[in-house]
Amino acid sequence: MIVSTKELFKAAYGKFAIGAYNINNLEQCMGLFKGNLDSQAPFIIQISKGARSYTHKTMLEGLIRSADKVFPEAIFAVHLDHGDEETCYDCIESGFYSSVMIDASHEDFDTNIAITRRVVDAAHAKGIAVEAELGQLGGVEEHVSVSEADAKLTDPEQAREFVERSGCDSLACAIGTSHGAFKFSGGQGLHFDVLEEIQKRLPGFPLVMHGSSSVPQEEVKRINQAGGSLKGAKGVDADQFKGAARLGVTKINIDTDGRLVWTRVHREHFLEHPENFDLRPPGKVFMQEYANFIADKNRKLGSANTLEEVRKRCQK
Ligand code: G3H
Ligand code: 13P
Ligand code: ZN
Repeated sequence: MIVSTKELFKAAYGKFAIGAYNINNLEQCMGLFKGNLDSQAPFIIQISKGARSYTHKTMLEGLIRSADKVFPEAIFAVHLDHGDEETCYDCIESGFYSSVMIDASHEDFDTNIAITRRVVDAAHAKGIAVEAELGQLGGVEEHVSVSEADAKLTDPEQAREFVERSGCDSLACAIGTSHGAFKFSGGQGLHFDVLEEIQKRLPGFPLVMHGSSSVPQEEVKRINQAGGSLKGAKGVDADQFKGAARLGVTKINIDTDGRLVWTRVHREHFLEHPENFDLRPPGKVFMQEYANFIADKNRKLGSANTLEEVRKRCQK
């Protein structure tokens, strides 16, 4: 059942975080639904601009609608990840999305607010929630000094003003994570101090953590042993998820880790079976491995075994 993102946030706030997982194809979609049901967790499906153009946006919509029928017990929201203004309007008009993210974080503060406000007005008119972003995520390189790196983090006082003026429903904050498989190259971890200051100024307001893949070292090792070349890949310690959830993080975005599962399964499969040219055997293994990965992640997020409680809330 597709539910509102806001309802999921209300159920989760301060207790656990909802996993927001990006999908691009059928195998990810199947594994995602199976893993969430195996672990009895509500979840958010994220669709990026890139995913919408990989095949066709309507294909993804069709896949998700079909998965909803194949897995009728699932409770989930559908979200546009890192949208620009035009894509946000397209998703709002489609009537399919529960929420959209407008990412104008690269703009100056006032322009970011103005763009977000326009999207909020259009989305709220249709009952759709809006995630915005303040601060700049990105890899922290060794040659960048701490003060320069800190300058990219979300300013708590600005966060309060941003939310008030833009009217957004949730806020993606930069607290030290970055997208992709090469995080914390400057050796820093998550800035819980920043999160705490933001929560003080925005009590009860849902925060979002992007760039939250853990990049498991065992996964990286297996990929490299099977012919890959991911040197120095590292990610977020998943044991920090529950602490972040207590500080108001209700949505945790994970994409890279799923791509690593895909890469490991396919590299190992074709190394072990060089004679194979059928896509289904590795596809079958991937769907199950992806489901296992999702279930494990939900246990780290604290969302596992909350499905029935969330269902009752959503059905009221
Ligand atoms: O934050 C970005 C997500 O990982 C989506 O990546 O734009 O390559 O689909 P993508
Ligand atoms: P990762 O690259 O760490 O998986 O982050 C994904 C993300 O933030 C999607 O918006
Ligand atoms: Zn992101």
